[in-house]
Amino acid sequence: MKVAMFSTKSFDREYFNRFNVPGEHDFTFFEAPLNENTTNLAQDYAGVCVFVNDKVNNQVIGSLRENGVKLIALRCAGFNNVDLRTAKEFSIPVVRVPAYSPYAVAEHAVALILTLNRKTHKAFNRIREHNFSLERLVGFDLHGKTVGVVGTGQIGGIFCQNMLGFGCEVLAFDQYPDDILAQKGVKYVTFDELLKQSDIISLHCPLTPETFHLIGKKEIGLMKKGVMLINTSRGALINTKAAIKALKNGHLGYLGIDVYEQEEHLFFRDLSERIIQDDLISRLLTFPNVLITAHQGFFTNEALEEITKVTLKNLSQFEKGEKLENEILIH
Ligand code: NAI
Repeated sequence: MKVAMFSTKSFDREYFNRFNVPGEHDFTFFEAPLNENTTNLAQDYAGVCVFVNDKVNNQVIGSLRENGVKLIALRCAGFNNVDLRTAKEFSIPVVRVPAYSPYAVAEHAVALILTLNRKTHKAFNRIREHNFSLERLVGFDLHGKTVGVVGTGQIGGIFCQNMLGFGCEVLAFDQYPDDILAQKGVKYVTFDELLKQSDIISLHCPLTPETFHLIGKKEIGLMKKGVMLINTSRGALINTKAAIKALKNGHLGYLGIDVYEQEEHLFFRDLSERIIQDDLISRLLTFPNVLITAHQGFFTNEALEEITKVTLKNLSQFEKGEKLENEILIH
């Protein structure tokens, strides 16, 4: 199958070339993202393969259809960037990789917590400059702290278990509580209770119209003073302006984010010689208690292998007219 792959990096080429059986699928790797201005690149391709920040709105899907595209394959789990209604209207199936390594993202959330808490990123830099002082590196024991987990699906579920392993009390909020997690000691509470009682809050729910700015001024106001907020899910779950305000007045004690509301203009690129025009991220970068990574939660060997293999399988199932086991269905 002839596939136009958008937003590609060296690792996409490496993994897809390694696992694609020669002659099975014919990939063209475009560095450009998919958006209203780049749909013409997909001319005469049967499928497009896109990532988290590609824009697959109704206009883009309309142009893709005119260009002969018959399948949209996401090489990620989240699909908030795709207009599923338009795709359905145009009979273009959308497939995804529902779970590639929930461990990768859950463990990255743990990494953000440990780094922010124990300040290993600062210690690393200090010691390289022969500064062996411990001043201002004091952290806290994770053991015994209350961790609130919003969304206990694949990633949130693993994260809960990781936190139980540290001896934390784990509170959770999800419309669909998981009995097995509850048996393991996770306590399901209301969203407000979770906000009020947690020392650390980690977001693991998808971005939907309902969860847009799930954490804003009011929600931060309910949190404990000095709380640590972690987001490895999608940037727009947090109202960044409200978070900045709460960091300035000290209500938010720590912020660890792997995702950012306006990340599509920044992440996955080397902008080190450019002037950053995004004032919110520039402000966030000034805080000593903010840790930002550029959407690397998924970035492990295991996850990249799984993303590649499942995407290749999704494409093959479509080409052979088989049932698409990873199609995103809407009513
Ligand atoms: P999942 O679908 O297995 O779990 C999501 C859970 O959130 C479900 O249990 C659902 O009931 C719950 N949920 C939905 N709305 C909620 C709400 N308003 N409040 C509380 N819970 C709610 O998804 P999975 O695989 O665990 O992924 C979670 C998110 O992680 C994805 O949607 C994606 O945005 C993000 N992600 C981030 C990656 C990264 O590299 N940083 C990589 C992969 C996913």
